[in-house]
Amino acid sequence: MDSGLENIVAAETSLSDVKGDIGELIIKGWYVEKLAASMAFEDVAHLLWQSAFDDLPTVQTLGEKLGKARADIFTHLPNSANPADIVQYLRLGWAQERDDEQLETAIRLAAGGLVYTAAAVRLAAGQTPIPPDPALSSSADFLRMITGIAPAANTARALDSYLVTICDHGLNASTFAARVVSSTRAGLTSAVLGGLSALKGPLHGGAPGPVLDMFDEIGETAQAEAWIDAALARGDRLMGFGHRVYRARDPRADALKTAAGQLPGTAGRIAFAEHIEREVLGKLRRKYPDRALETNVEFYTAILLEALEIPRQAFTAVFACGRVLGWIAHAREQISEGRIVRPKSIYRGPVPEMA
Ligand code: CMC
Repeated sequence: MDSGLENIVAAETSLSDVKGDIGELIIKGWYVEKLAASMAFEDVAHLLWQSAFDDLPTVQTLGEKLGKARADIFTHLPNSANPADIVQYLRLGWAQERDDEQLETAIRLAAGGLVYTAAAVRLAAGQTPIPPDPALSSSADFLRMITGIAPAANTARALDSYLVTICDHGLNASTFAARVVSSTRAGLTSAVLGGLSALKGPLHGGAPGPVLDMFDEIGETAQAEAWIDAALARGDRLMGFGHRVYRARDPRADALKTAAGQLPGTAGRIAFAEHIEREVLGKLRRKYPDRALETNVEFYTAILLEALEIPRQAFTAVFACGRVLGWIAHAREQISEGRIVRPKSIYRGPVPEMA
């Protein structure tokens, strides 16, 4: 029995390799740092979907199709959803898609994540959603749909770095969930909804918003030590630290820190974050000398998304906007190479009484 499936290998994949012992991440033959520095959302969709769809067009055509899909999806915003719960709004939006295995559905799911999330951010702030501009890149259009202003090139580039960095990551909980759903032949939309439902928990994709809550509570560096001591004494988990697989530093943390550092006005916030990080790591090492607990992706996700002026309530949904590319690729891979997922359990319940 292995309740967290920690030592179980449940799939072969050509999508990503998480080398937890040395802190490396390879996505389709690329180190994540290189992807983060050079690729856009459309490029990485193309990279991940190459073996998933026989009819995958060129990157440029894929980008055009994503733009057209954004424009169409905007005319189908869910009107019964509560936009204050941005993950719920996204889930209801995605649930409207056809549930099949077609490339068109994959494109609509990838485009829809950005449209629904941006619309929910606006509605939650009491503002009217802004229609997409299909001529822009996915990242630039997402930021424009939130602020109403087409972003500077380096700002859109920073969001691309984020979405690319988190597009895929081995058999994490949400990807595994997507593969389980896909293994039943339920359809891509169901697989993506399964992935999102697993992602939203605070131990997985729900962590970056609480990282900023932690910063707010700490307030200033002089308070950090006392705040961390009290949190650890209560048995709290400190958001943005620890990982099931990494026993070295999560390479995505530094990729995102670099991306955040390239945005204007972030130096002070990064210095504050570095101070908290040092304090937390020192205390975790003392509390768990036999367990390597390092900084994970969510810590600098919080800094980067905050610098992009995305509200923290939207962080998990923005994570889903990037990870949906991986969920779709894994769902297709599961169908082509895997079987229905059906592990065993050990019964510990009551036994029937003898008659
Ligand atoms: N703060 C305080 N204590 C911790 C933390 C943390 N962030 N992470 C682990 N621990 C403790 C944990 O409670 C356990 O203690 P005990 O033995 O006394 O119960 C010990 O360290 C060993 O935990 P583990 O076996 O390394 O943890 P896990 O593999 O079950 O869980 C985790 C991994 C990511 C859920 C966990 O580290 C955590 O809750 N981190 C905080 C939430 C977070 O940042 N999540 C984002 C993860 S990265 C994005 C993704 O890929 O999902």
